[in-house]
Amino acid sequence: MMSADRTETSLSKTINVDLGERSYPIHIGSGQICYADVGQYVLGKKALIVTNETIAPLYLDILLGQLSDKHVDQVILKDGEQFKTLDHLNLILTQLIEKHHDRKTTLIALGGGVIGDMTGFAAACYQRGVAFIQIPTTLLAQVDSSVGGKTAVNHPLGKNMIGAFYQPQAVIIDINSLKTLPDREFFAGMAEVIKYGLISDYGFFQWLERNTASLLHRDEKALAYAIEHSCLNKAKIVSADETEQGIRAILNLGHTFGHAIETFQQYTGFLHGEAVAVGMVMAAELSRISGGVSQQDVDRARALIIAFSLPIAPPEAMQADDFMRLMVRDKKVLDGQLRLVLLERLGSAVVSADFRLQWLEEVLVKACQN
Ligand code: NAD
Ligand code: GLY
Repeated sequence: MMSADRTETSLSKTINVDLGERSYPIHIGSGQICYADVGQYVLGKKALIVTNETIAPLYLDILLGQLSDKHVDQVILKDGEQFKTLDHLNLILTQLIEKHHDRKTTLIALGGGVIGDMTGFAAACYQRGVAFIQIPTTLLAQVDSSVGGKTAVNHPLGKNMIGAFYQPQAVIIDINSLKTLPDREFFAGMAEVIKYGLISDYGFFQWLERNTASLLHRDEKALAYAIEHSCLNKAKIVSADETEQGIRAILNLGHTFGHAIETFQQYTGFLHGEAVAVGMVMAAELSRISGGVSQQDVDRARALIIAFSLPIAPPEAMQADDFMRLMVRDKKVLDGQLRLVLLERLGSAVVSADFRLQWLEEVLVKACQN
């Protein structure tokens, strides 16, 4: 792992998430944590940075340096999806109360999706809602979880079951912070990048096929393009449907299968992005059987996923019955009916209940044989 590089430039690209009075910018560039004026989004005198034991030694001091004119407290949580719980959320809330933070405080999430989701939920709950800023440090968080205002913690019975829609004041993305990200985490983030190509942007999917090598080398230009296009796709979908009444659900391609895997694993062993990668292959298979994409399209999706060293099969111990038991708890289940995101073609997805249970079982059994 390389150390954090502190020598970069200022903000280079801004995308707006258009949500009326809840609109906010996504700043993308290199060296944001060093140079961006994070302070401009901290409107009161106090802030609380939430981060974890891994990220704090890398980036906390750099961020604190930007906020020297504020009173800044910090919470350093344990690192891991298994700590994305109500108990650990309570540590953030307790700190806010103990340190006398009032309604003008700003929470700052410095970390990956786990920290971002928990900080956002704490901000939504504390005194019925205070401001928060996302500083995502994983690829997955930069292209997905920091944008769109979904915040949550897990429950032992289901992933992200307790949460709120709550938008940040700003998202500040420092591509440079990916230099310290382990390969496996980087690849997991690529699963969500590939997702945008599959659900809404065939041109981007083709670009990913052509630029796999540059991305694998973490070429900064290629990364900037991939992050920007992911955020543009996400911002467009979220702006059209903030609270997932319709189109936003396509952002969950593969997630119903993936969340079942994560819950089965008790949030260990499979990273979120890895579980989503397996789920996207399963969703593509079901889409093919349901009359959507062709076999060739499924093969292209699978090949791109494999190119980024992502898994395409569920955990060995998992059976089709386990999927069925866990998938019925999905948040897309309405009136007892399971709805899944299916591909109409590469670059276009729909949320559908229009598939035969027998087809789903076929996909599950086949996937669990691998
Ligand atoms: P994560 O937050 O667990 O981070 C992955 C690992 O990388 C952790 O060990 C972390 O400490 C470490 N890390 C983070 N930044 C680093 C850096 N720059 N250098 C070195 N190490 C670093 O995982 P994630 O993949 O970022 O996020 C997954 C979570 O996001 C899941 O809980 C998932 O449910 C959630 N999620 C939410 C949304 C949403 O819309 N809110 C969307 C997708 C995923
Ligand atoms: N990650 C799915 C969503 O934001 O809706």
